[in-house]
Amino acid sequence: MTTAAYDEIADWYDRIRSSEWNPSDKEGSLLELIGDVSGQYVCDLACGQGIISRLLTERGAQVVGVDISEKMLDIARRYESENSLGVTYIQDNAHELSNIPDESFDGVVCVWALMDIPDAEATLANVARVLRTGGWFVMCITHPCFCSPDSGDAVDGNGVAVREVRHYFDEGFWVSDTSNPKSVRAKVGAHHRTLSAYLNAIIDAGLLLERVVEPRGIDPVTGPVLRSRPTPLAFMVRCRKA
Ligand SMILES: C[S@@+](CC[C@H](N)C(=O)[O-])C[C@H]1O[C@@H](n2cnc3c(N)ncnc32)[C@H](O)[C@@H]1O
Repeated sequence: MTTAAYDEIADWYDRIRSSEWNPSDKEGSLLELIGDVSGQYVCDLACGQGIISRLLTERGAQVVGVDISEKMLDIARRYESENSLGVTYIQDNAHELSNIPDESFDGVVCVWALMDIPDAEATLANVARVLRTGGWFVMCITHPCFCSPDSGDAVDGNGVAVREVRHYFDEGFWVSDTSNPKSVRAKVGAHHRTLSAYLNAIIDAGLLLERVVEPRGIDPVTGPVLRSRPTPLAFMVRCRKA
């Protein structure tokens, strides 16, 4: 069995993700970007404990959740056994997707996860491989421009909320400090990439950009945030396989 960073924090992540942030009313921008999935065969890549898999199943998709962490998948399967929606969960590495044949899916989603995955290029190439021609891909990441290493919220001399951005060009793995007890990044770190690195990886994978969203008032971990937040913390992209 592969050991994965989220094996260590699976129960904690499930608690903050599902009990403190009910996604059915807080992830509107993402669901809007995904659109109508009724009757579609969809892969929830890096599905974690299956929160998005269940949302899409409830919207009429047939969903396969894929994750590298067996512990996260155990939790996803437990939800499925408590309330059977028909989601299938399989363990695989996003770099390879070795259990998934070419051109399998109408759509792939990857939510709050590409910054957890070391090789974005290999992952996006596999996303393109497992999509049917014309299939769609939606990803949601912490905003690479404003969530670079050691960036944080502050208040300026006039009492105005500002975002202090640091180390934007320093790509690579980093771990945030532990001042925020709800910070996933303090526990498992993140792979920081510039915005151009993400967009070029999408282009190199042969995916065509269709739509980009930078929602206001959504925090990657805690959900809604004060309207005064000056920058978006999420970056969402919809693409299509040509
Ligand atoms: C922040 S969680 C997001 C989980 C879920 N998508 C959600 O919206 O809550 C990131 C997930 O990415 C998974 N992950 C990290 N590296 C991976 C890889 N190489 N292949 C597949 N999954 C991976 C982790 O195990 C974890 O479940």
